[in-house]
Amino acid sequence: MGMIAAGTLGSAEFRADYRVKYAYLAGAMYKGIASKELVTAMGKAGLMAFLGTGGLSPEEIESSIRFIQSELAPGQPYGMNLLSDLARPEQELRTVQIYLEYGIRHVEAAAYMRITPALVRYRLKGIAVDADGIVRAPNHVLAKVSRPEVAALFMQPAPDNIVRELAASGLLDAEEARLADRVPMADDICVEADSGGHTDQGVAYVLMPAMLALRDEMAAKHRYSSKIRMGAAGGIGTPHAAAAAFMLGADFILTGSINQCTCEAGTSESVKELLQHIDVQDTAYAPAGDMFELGAKIQVVRRGLFFPSRPTSCTSFTCATALWKKSIRKPASRFRRSISDVRSTRSGMRRGATTPASTRSSSRRWRATPSEKWP
Ligand SMILES: Cc1cc2nc3c(=O)[nH]c(=O)nc-3n(C[C@H](O)[C@H](O)[C@H](O)COP(=O)(O)O)c2cc1C
Repeated sequence: MGMIAAGTLGSAEFRADYRVKYAYLAGAMYKGIASKELVTAMGKAGLMAFLGTGGLSPEEIESSIRFIQSELAPGQPYGMNLLSDLARPEQELRTVQIYLEYGIRHVEAAAYMRITPALVRYRLKGIAVDADGIVRAPNHVLAKVSRPEVAALFMQPAPDNIVRELAASGLLDAEEARLADRVPMADDICVEADSGGHTDQGVAYVLMPAMLALRDEMAAKHRYSSKIRMGAAGGIGTPHAAAAAFMLGADFILTGSINQCTCEAGTSESVKELLQHIDVQDTAYAPAGDMFELGAKIQVVRRGLFFPSRPTSCTSFTCATALWKKSIRKPASRFRRSISDVRSTRSGMRRGATTPASTRSSSRRWRATPSEKWP
């Protein structure tokens, strides 16, 4: 029996395609916590990290890309995050435009509930038949998902109606549109079990076998020329957890939380210090500010902090209404700013907070949201 070494774990094809030493990726973290420094340090070590572009302005994304491209030699690995934002589709299109202009070949697509035109444009731009007659899409999508129905969307070709619209508006050419049904939306699916940040609190032992079976079903149906690889994320912070993920059948693994403790992570020293000393039971769940109305949750540190209990307490209807009544009388003491200021924040403006009910929801979301303040 051959030796098991880190460099032999997972899929050899994955390591070759991503040009990485190990079948291992560092996931994106919001507002540059997964910083340009982290991405370049990983790239120089022959490993891939995804820049945390969520919450960064287009100018910040562009300057980070320029930094990464100037630091890394051609062929050294790096990637970018691409977040779905159904409320602001123009933001996603703009981000994709930047990625296409700078020749970004790897994105980690996350927070998708449906396939969007921006994602389809990224995936299909440049698709062509090579000299061997094989259809190749130069832009690689790794879809991070926690639900089988979302995974299924990424295992299928781009939706016809979106391809037609993009072709009609000139964002795809006729050949790119014609080849759309030859490739799945994602080359790789990363199955995310309960994780730091946004979480569906899934259990890896349950999710992985179900997702692998789904992948086999989809592969048989669509007969793609290459296999869709399946990775695992969520709760991987020790060699034992990494080994368990590979034992479950993962082609690759992806980590998030542990990377926040690195020198290169774009977060404060106090956060790094706090994370160094927490134990496995020191986290809790809180409402996610950016998907507040959907009931989405994030996993955060609770030890020594009031943060998770405060917003959680204000999501129940009666409590939220009582809190709102108090807040509207004294907004400055509750929100530390006026109601109109709350409404004018990015989260407050989402979905047009124009009615009293939506303003109330926006304000609660603003108060609940750590993602507004990360890092
Ligand atoms: C603080 C923090 C911020 C995150 N922000 C993002 C993000 O902006 N985009 C994204 O795709 N994933 C984000 N993630 C998820 C990570 O990329 C990764 O999937 C997850 O952390 C893996 O689980 P683990 O934390 O248990 O290792 C974030 C995770 C953390 C801990």
